[in-house]
Amino acid sequence: MRRGTTLTEFIIGEQRGFAHASGGFTALVSDLQLACKHIAYLVGKGALAGALGRSGSENVQGEQQMKLDVAANEIFLRTTQWGGHLAAMVSEELDGPYQIPKQYPRGRYLLVFDPLDGSSNIDVNVSVGSIFSVLRAPEGVSEPATEDFLQPGSAQVCAGYAIYGPTSMLVLTFGRGVNGFTLDREIGEFIITHPDLRIPEETSEFAINTSNERFWEPPVNRYVAECLRGRSGPRGKDFNMRWIASMVAEVHRILVRGGLFMYPRDTKDPKRAGRLRLLYEANPMAMIVEQAGGAASTGRGRILDVAPTELHQRVPVILGSKAEVERIERYHREHEQGLDRPFASPLFNTRSLFRGG
Ligand code: F6P
Repeated sequence: MRRGTTLTEFIIGEQRGFAHASGGFTALVSDLQLACKHIAYLVGKGALAGALGRSGSENVQGEQQMKLDVAANEIFLRTTQWGGHLAAMVSEELDGPYQIPKQYPRGRYLLVFDPLDGSSNIDVNVSVGSIFSVLRAPEGVSEPATEDFLQPGSAQVCAGYAIYGPTSMLVLTFGRGVNGFTLDREIGEFIITHPDLRIPEETSEFAINTSNERFWEPPVNRYVAECLRGRSGPRGKDFNMRWIASMVAEVHRILVRGGLFMYPRDTKDPKRAGRLRLLYEANPMAMIVEQAGGAASTGRGRILDVAPTELHQRVPVILGSKAEVERIERYHREHEQGLDRPFASPLFNTRSLFRGG
């Protein structure tokens, strides 16, 4: 039986397109896929491997760590630190930059990752994933410090995520489109199954955590209210809503069938500009979404243009089908110009006035 192209074959093919490529980047991607396979195995074993539940510790952001968060973080570090391709790493689970242990050679790339995103879903057996981003280490820097990681998302060399769901998949971009690979567990390889993923421009599906509605800003209120009014409202069509609480699963759905995902800025915690982290959640997903023909915005500008100021900085995220993201950006502009008065009014949130048409 003929099998499809493996991820290894695919990246070596890509490498051949670059006359001066040393193979270092290809080897790094190969280590990353091994880390994801290992995590896929552990997630798939779940309670059988004693992997469920809390670890009893908190990460730097004060979040409860799950046992699998800790294990996945270790797997990423151990699988990628030895190869000589990385200069340092940043993880959601670690305070500051992780330096490559002295016994290993240092390389030219920086790796930034969220080892297990959506980990509140682990115990309930809903899809989770890993997200990663590769940057170039600045020339001449041998021990990268925080500021060396504070590069805009537009500087990413590669972005990807693994989704551990009914099947495990790896979705990758090197800046020339997006390809999806499915793990064939029997032969232990990721096989290309979703070449050149493209997000439809239009959609009638959106994802947002509506329990935060009272904290949203008026442009987001306006957008969601218009969708909810369906065929008889200003959009003239019915919308469907989804919320998995696992960004990887939401982005994956959008890549496959279109849609819009929002974790916008809100007033729930005035110290936080949003919920999702810029360097290892928003930026890699924004690169993937743009490379698939979609758009990714804070509501006020392109995510990939945000100049980072902190490693674990948060940012508002609105991504998916291009026409919808552009519409929400317009709503933000109109709000700033005072052109959306009915929607800016607190009365908009009451039942009687603007709800139900
Ligand atoms: O940390 C990120 C994350 O778990 C995302 O994967 C997900 O989109 C979001 O948080 C869920 O947030 P909430 O718990 O507010 O629904």
